[in-house]
Amino acid sequence: MTYTLAFDVYGTLINTHGIFSTLEKLIGEKAKSFTDTWRNKQLEYSFRRGLMNKYEGFSLCTKEALQFCCEMYKVNFTSAQKVALLEEYMVLPVFPDVVTGLKTLNASGHSLYAFSNGEAKAVSKLLTNAKVIDYFDGLVSAENIRTFKPNPSVYEHFNKKTNSSKSGSWLISSNPFDVIGAASYGMNTAWVQRSSDTVFDPWGIEPTVIIQEISDLNKYLATKA
Ligand code: LAC
Repeated sequence: MTYTLAFDVYGTLINTHGIFSTLEKLIGEKAKSFTDTWRNKQLEYSFRRGLMNKYEGFSLCTKEALQFCCEMYKVNFTSAQKVALLEEYMVLPVFPDVVTGLKTLNASGHSLYAFSNGEAKAVSKLLTNAKVIDYFDGLVSAENIRTFKPNPSVYEHFNKKTNSSKSGSWLISSNPFDVIGAASYGMNTAWVQRSSDTVFDPWGIEPTVIIQEISDLNKYLATKA
């Protein structure tokens, strides 16, 4: 049996900590906390905008989270440095297991989609730059319905856009908030746990399967054929 696969992008395919080495050159030992806070604030801003029904694109959440971090860590980046950091965010690398994983799932006949809170233009640029865009049948962005995952309407939008069903589709994500959102909506879910230190939210809602790398999903789906 083949499935419609929805791949989360930031943090799952694309390593958002890829920006860490640039920050380390600029601000030294503050870089680790700065990167973590930047990512957490970016997500928080998207969730809050969704809850408030005041949608703005994910790239604005990223930009405003960067400004928050500059103030919190008392870092005086010039406008040009901030622009350069945000531009780097558009060309981040994929995790090392991604190319093999996408290749094997594609060869098994599954339909692969990028499924992101990020705007279609930004996601398309990222995946093109990382040379993985050709593995995908398409791209579904939450921007079309002007809210963010984990709102269930975004997962429903995915099923509608790809003409798939809850039981015939999988959400693949490293982000526990995304896995729990999709599972609560009713999709199958794979949580990508690349490091054993990563903690899953103890909400009593579990992923269908936990994988260490993307190609593990291909092996798991083969056992269901
Ligand atoms: C994505 C981020 C938010 O949807 O994980 O790509």
